[in-house]
Amino acid sequence: MNKRQEMNASSPVNSVSDRATVQQPLGLDVEVVGEHERENLEIFFAEAEERRANDVVLNCQDNLDFLREQPKEKFKLIVTSPPYNIGKSYEVQSSLDDYLANQRQVIGECIRVLHPKGSICWQVGNYTDNGEIIPLDCLLFPIFREFGLKLRNRIIWHFGHGLHCRNRLSGRYETINWWTKRNDYTWHLDPIRVPSKYPGKRHFKGPRKGELSGNPKGKNPSDVWEFPNVKSNHPEKTVHPCQFPVELVERLVLSLTDENDDVFDPYVGVGSSVVAAIKHKRNGYGCDVVEEYIAIARERVDAFYAGTLKTRPMGKPVYDPTLPNGGH
Ligand SMILES: C[S@@+](CC[C@H](N)C(=O)[O-])C[C@H]1O[C@@H](n2cnc3c(N)ncnc32)[C@H](O)[C@@H]1O
Repeated sequence: MNKRQEMNASSPVNSVSDRATVQQPLGLDVEVVGEHERENLEIFFAEAEERRANDVVLNCQDNLDFLREQPKEKFKLIVTSPPYNIGKSYEVQSSLDDYLANQRQVIGECIRVLHPKGSICWQVGNYTDNGEIIPLDCLLFPIFREFGLKLRNRIIWHFGHGLHCRNRLSGRYETINWWTKRNDYTWHLDPIRVPSKYPGKRHFKGPRKGELSGNPKGKNPSDVWEFPNVKSNHPEKTVHPCQFPVELVERLVLSLTDENDDVFDPYVGVGSSVVAAIKHKRNGYGCDVVEEYIAIARERVDAFYAGTLKTRPMGKPVYDPTLPNGGH
C-alpha cells in the first residue's frame, strides 16, 4: 500500500463531514475545508510523522560528559566546528596548550564512539595571536594521527564574507578535515555530485570516441567547496555568531552516512548539523553548553518538522554580482 492508500484506509478525519479537524502529529488541530485540501494535509502530516521517525537528541551539556554516556562505535558521522580559542562570546580563552589538551580529550572520546566505518569531520580556522595566524588543523593533525585515524581530505571551505584585514590578506577560507578509522569507510559520491561544466562533452578519439566523457550524474565536487557563510542576510541566520551553513553539513551527511545512521555534533551550537541529519532521514545528536543555543536548536528542529524552517537549498549558485539577478 502506498502512502495515499494507507491514508484512505485509516483516515484520522471524520469522513461524514467536508469540514473536519485533522488530528496531526505536531500537536495542532487544523481546520480544513474540502476533500482535496484535507487529503493534501493528511499526506503532508503523514510525511512529517515519517520524518519524525528519526531520533533527535539535543542536550545542554558539556561534550565530555555527553560523550562518556554514549556506547562505543555508535556514530557513523561526527561533524563539528569547535571553538577556536579566540575569545568568542561562547568560549573561555585558555593557553594554546590547554586548548589542545582539551581538544585531545574530546577527539579521543569521539574516536571511541565512532563507528568502525565512520568519519570525523573537524572544521576549523585559525587561532590568532598578536597578528600571527596559527592554522588549527596543523596543530590538530598530529593528534588525530596519533589516535590512528587517516586523513581522507582536507577540504577548503571558501566563503565570501569576513573581517577585512589591514596588515595581511583577508581570510576567506577554513578547512574541514575528514578523518576515518579504517580504509573501508562509508562513502557515496553520487548524492553529492555537482553539474559538470561541459555535460555534453564527448571523447574525440580512441575506443570510446563519440561517447560522453563525463559522468551523466555530474562531477565530483572536489575538495574546494564554496558555500556562503551564515551572515546577517543568510536565510539560516540566528543569534549564534558562527553557525554552519546547513548545506555544508548536508554534503557530508549524504556522502558519509546511510539513512538511519547516527550523526553527532559535540559542539552543536544552534543545531545546524542535526537539521542536516534529519533532513536526510538520519538520527541527529548534539550537545552545547549554552542553553540559549540548545533552545534555538530545538526550535529549528520543530520548524523543520512543521515545514517552516528556511534553509539555503543545496546546489543553489552563490550570488554573483556580475550576473543578472546575481545568477539566481
Ligand atoms: C563554532 S560554534 C559551533 C556552531 C555550530 N556549528 C552551529 O552551526 O551552530 C562552537 C560551539 O561550541 C560550544 N561549546 C564550547 N565549549 C563546549 C563544551 N565543552 N561542550 C559543548 N559545547 C561547547 C559553544 O557554546 C559554541 O556554540
